[in-house]
Amino acid sequence: MCGLCVFLLSILTQGKSIYCTFLCSAILSSHTSSNVIGIIGHNVTLPCRYDTKHHGELSFCWGRGKVPTSKCSDTILTAADWAEQSSQSSRYQLLGRVMDGDISLTILDAQWSDGGVYGCRIEVPGWFNDHKVNTQLVMEEGNAHAN
Ligand SMILES: *[C@@H]1O[C@H](CO)[C@@H](O)[C@H](O)[C@H]1NC(C)=O
Repeated sequence: MCGLCVFLLSILTQGKSIYCTFLCSAILSSHTSSNVIGIIGHNVTLPCRYDTKHHGELSFCWGRGKVPTSKCSDTILTAADWAEQSSQSSRYQLLGRVMDGDISLTILDAQWSDGGVYGCRIEVPGWFNDHKVNTQLVMEEGNAHAN
């Protein structure tokens, strides 16, 4: 979409090309960020979803750290299609309805060391279309009197 925008830039008038540049930067920065609180020793789910009715099945990946320019950084889970998933560890699971586009990542028995940024990338066909979600996982102690 951005590629089309750049193409149009060369044939549009000055005023319209400025609008186009704004649209373009809006598209390029189309990622979402949020915080999730995890409790030590509990499962924690980091949300990520896409519209399967509109897109059909798409490849996606989860990694530690913000979603980079391509793929995922420090990949912990990938899926080339709904049937084939590979996970770095059995602690990382997709417990949502993946076929409905719910690719939220659940970390079982979360620990302090699990805290940090996680990136979810959904590979939407076309240039610069990938859907990126960066989530900050903040770990906290449960009830101070537990144990
Ligand atoms: C975490 O999720 C797993 C898999 O669904 C489940 O078996 C387990 O009981 C859950 N643990 C907690 C503490 O909820």
